[in-house]
Amino acid sequence: MEQAALTFAKVSKVYDGAGSVQRYALRDVSFEIAPGTTASIVGRSGSGKSTLLHLAAGIDVPTHGSVAVHGTPLAGLSETGRTRLRRRDIGFVFQLFHLLPHLTVRDNVALPELIAGARARSFRERVTALLERVGLADRADDPVAGLSGGEMQRVAICRALLRRPRLLLADEPTGSLDDASGQMVMELMLQMVSEEGATLVYATHSRELAAMADGILRLHSGMLDPESGSTT
Ligand SMILES: Nc1ncnc2c1ncn2[C@@H]1O[C@H](COP(=O)(O)OP(=O)(O)OP(=O)(O)O)[C@@H](O)[C@H]1O
Ligand SMILES: [Mg+2]
Repeated sequence: MEQAALTFAKVSKVYDGAGSVQRYALRDVSFEIAPGTTASIVGRSGSGKSTLLHLAAGIDVPTHGSVAVHGTPLAGLSETGRTRLRRRDIGFVFQLFHLLPHLTVRDNVALPELIAGARARSFRERVTALLERVGLADRADDPVAGLSGGEMQRVAICRALLRRPRLLLADEPTGSLDDASGQMVMELMLQMVSEEGATLVYATHSRELAAMADGILRLHSGMLDPESGSTT
């Protein structure tokens, strides 16, 4: 069987609350996401959606249990190893875009390669192709600050896909957009991960957008609804 793109095995994340009370942001969460599939994460505010995505990206580490990306357990990696995996294999899209407003659209998309020290010529075509794909080629040399929210999120998606990650994670990618542009951005993101053969896991508050995924992970107070889960 093909290696799962993302595996959570009995994962808990515990925070120390006031008076040394332990608060579970996630409790005993297990699931598998098959490569090339899409999964949405739904649940009320505080149910653990962002925590789950941060653990999947190796931005944060679980208190108990294990997280593996394409069969590589993150716990077996050093901090540097996790950073390398994150840069090479994982793309992340945030609710608030996280773009640099004064840089051009093109440079914002190119940022991961610039940070990695790649030569501009080696990724220029890829940046142009991605911007054409999202209908922003004519804005390539404009500063990002002048774009609409939906346009900014399309730039952020290009940036996240630049290095051809096999796993794309998105935390409420349409949370700052109105319904129409949210729907448009979500459709575009789903089409692009399918074209790239990548796996997508995204958190959303929208029932409609959640239903567009192959599988839905439902969180209740940090626990996964047993009815929901794996796309394998
Ligand atoms: N650094 C932290 N320290 C303490 N508690 C935290 C921390 N990060 C998250 N939590 C708690 O963990 C729980 C889950 O938070 P999380 O951000 O994952 O929820 P969420 O489902 O993404 O919510 P939202 O829909 O509001 O974004 C919450 O109760 C939150 O207060
Ligand atoms: Mg969140």
